[in-house]
Amino acid sequence: MKKIIAIANQKGGVAKTTTTGALAAGLKQKGYKVLTIDLDPQGNLTDSVGADGYNFPTTYELMKREAKPEEAIQHLEAFDIIPANIMLAGAEQEFSQIGKEQRLKETIAPVVSQYDYIIIDTPPALGVLTVNAFTVADEIIIPTTAGIFAAKGIRQLHDTIVNVQKYCNDKVKIAGILLTKYNPRSNNNKDMRELTEQIGEYIKAPIFKTYIRATVAVEEAQARATDLFTYNGDSTAAADYAAFVDEYLKGDNQ
Ligand SMILES: Nc1ncnc2c1ncn2[C@@H]1O[C@H](COP(=O)(O)OP(=O)(O)OP(=O)(O)O)[C@@H](O)[C@H]1O
Ligand SMILES: [Mg+2]
Repeated sequence: MKKIIAIANQKGGVAKTTTTGALAAGLKQKGYKVLTIDLDPQGNLTDSVGADGYNFPTTYELMKREAKPEEAIQHLEAFDIIPANIMLAGAEQEFSQIGKEQRLKETIAPVVSQYDYIIIDTPPALGVLTVNAFTVADEIIIPTTAGIFAAKGIRQLHDTIVNVQKYCNDKVKIAGILLTKYNPRSNNNKDMRELTEQIGEYIKAPIFKTYIRATVAVEEAQARATDLFTYNGDSTAAADYAAFVDEYLKGDNQ
């Protein structure tokens, strides 16, 4: 087992799910064994790769200890996935107080050694689900868009990570911040540099040099339940995500 990576930002629509799918598909294409876990009750990752979130056990049954991880994993062409559906929205209330942050870590433990990378897509919230992802993760990747940068949100995210480091998982670290949905026409390079410096100051985390340009191919691929590289490997976002996977692996090998 090499790494468990949580993709997180409590801000909605910053390309957490897109990044999870692209990183997973990119790593799988390089020959790694990859599992993704949909930890978002919206089930967007599940839908975006055409997994079945209703007729088989999901992350919800896994975390309730009603299904084993082997029973919840679906083996798709793009990558393996434990899917999610809206039932997972009950997690906050249903999971007992004691040890509730550890449920994902405990329940996926039997399959962890079978994979090189396990990548977890989290919901746009800093609740018990995201904390479960941080508790099992080695690393956190934070996607963010340039246009909706909010210092307060990034600070809250950072505070949550610091608390998890203190109480649940002292080894988890931020692998980096990934700028997504970048539009060269509306953001100039100066803005990007300032943005990067601001974020870096707030959470003292590295920024990936690669940023992901906005392109319609991303939504088209998701609508067709196909990974970005298979749908349109020539699109700018596919090229950017491929460069991101390479950059991530370079840092990962150091
Ligand atoms: N590079 C891109 N170019 C164009 N559209 C993009 C790009 N990346 C993501 N999108 C689109 O932006 C929307 C939000 O992306 P995504 O679902 O990945 O974000 P998210 O952070 O997971 O959202 P949520 O917080 O709701 O889980 C989707 O419609 C997606 O297709
Ligand atoms: Mg999402």
